[in-house]
Amino acid sequence: MSHHIFRRLLPRPVAVDLGTANTLIYMHGKGIVLNQPSVVCFQKTPSPGAGRVAAVGEEAKQLLGRSPTNLEAIRPMRHGVIADFAAAEHMFREFVEMARLRSVFGLRAEFTICVPCSATQVERRAIREAALAAGAAKVSLIDESLAAAVGAGLPVGEARGSMVVDMGGGTTEVAVVSLGGVAYQGFVRIGGDQFDAAIVSYVRSLYGVVLGDQTAEHVKKTIGSATLDVPTERARAIGRSLVDGLPRTIELSNHDVAEALAAPLRPVVDAIKLALENAPPELVTDIAHSGMVLTGGGALLANLDKRLAEETGLAVRVAHEPLTCAVRGASAAASCVDAASFG
Ligand SMILES: Nc1ncnc2c1ncn2[C@@H]1O[C@H](COP(=O)(O)OP(=O)(O)OP(=O)(O)O)[C@@H](O)[C@H]1O
Ligand SMILES: [Mg+2]
Repeated sequence: MSHHIFRRLLPRPVAVDLGTANTLIYMHGKGIVLNQPSVVCFQKTPSPGAGRVAAVGEEAKQLLGRSPTNLEAIRPMRHGVIADFAAAEHMFREFVEMARLRSVFGLRAEFTICVPCSATQVERRAIREAALAAGAAKVSLIDESLAAAVGAGLPVGEARGSMVVDMGGGTTEVAVVSLGGVAYQGFVRIGGDQFDAAIVSYVRSLYGVVLGDQTAEHVKKTIGSATLDVPTERARAIGRSLVDGLPRTIELSNHDVAEALAAPLRPVVDAIKLALENAPPELVTDIAHSGMVLTGGGALLANLDKRLAEETGLAVRVAHEPLTCAVRGASAAASCVDAASFG
């Protein structure tokens, strides 16, 4: 009983997915307490780096590409790791404040943070330091693809292979997991950001119109497709004409968008085929039966499952709530480890 009360006074452990596109925080026993775009906006000052945070998350994302001259909106994460340390630290601190993670006595929580397999030791240390500066009592890191596999409900603890493809904003990770660990891991530095950029450059060369990144993302979400053989759909987009510099409305078809996405999708497909060629044979046999699961926001790209099924001959399933798999899985994995080590 007294043990129970004591536990309630301690802050609950949290899992964090500090992604290229979105940051999520999951509190053990409570669920998702923060889900915001990984964007921070600073007030510009004459001395660089000394700016005050003017907005963070959704509010800051609205300012990306349209911030007035006294404000600067920054995305501190690139390809799943910290690209701008000072900005990441400020952003992280604001998110921790917003999520109200501390206990009634102001005690700090333990953090389990997802990191991509491609992160270097230096990049891992940067994430750890940013978390400690943001108010973590203790930091553990977990493989993002393992976390995603757990969150997708794959039987990662069993002695059989499962395959997960986690496509985020800036990376795609392919992993084969078995017995609670990662048996094979591959990645490409391609994700939703690169898809958006491909749409921008396609429209620029075909129509002579420059779209903003967020317009391109909207086009991708509404009429994007990973296959070309789809019934025609159209969407309007407004960009700036290269001819006269004036706003121009164009009508794009989903075939245009599919063609634009074909180039960045190729290396993703190749990475998955490479995984099937190089993972341990017994595990590949298991995967031939169970298929693969897609997680991360990229899993929501229309027909991606169909395309990957055609390319590999495997069954492909999109995870339930793909955008939250990694953070949910990290929390579940962390509490399993706790239960195992503390009785
Ligand atoms: N319906 C959709 N169709 C296509 N792409 C989508 C859709 N919904 C979201 N996305 C894309 O998913 C990406 C964000 O996914 P997610 O939040 O999993 O990335 P992240 O975890 O922040 O990035 P990373 O894991 O690379 O660090 C964005 O690029 C977004 O445009
Ligand atoms: Mg991610």
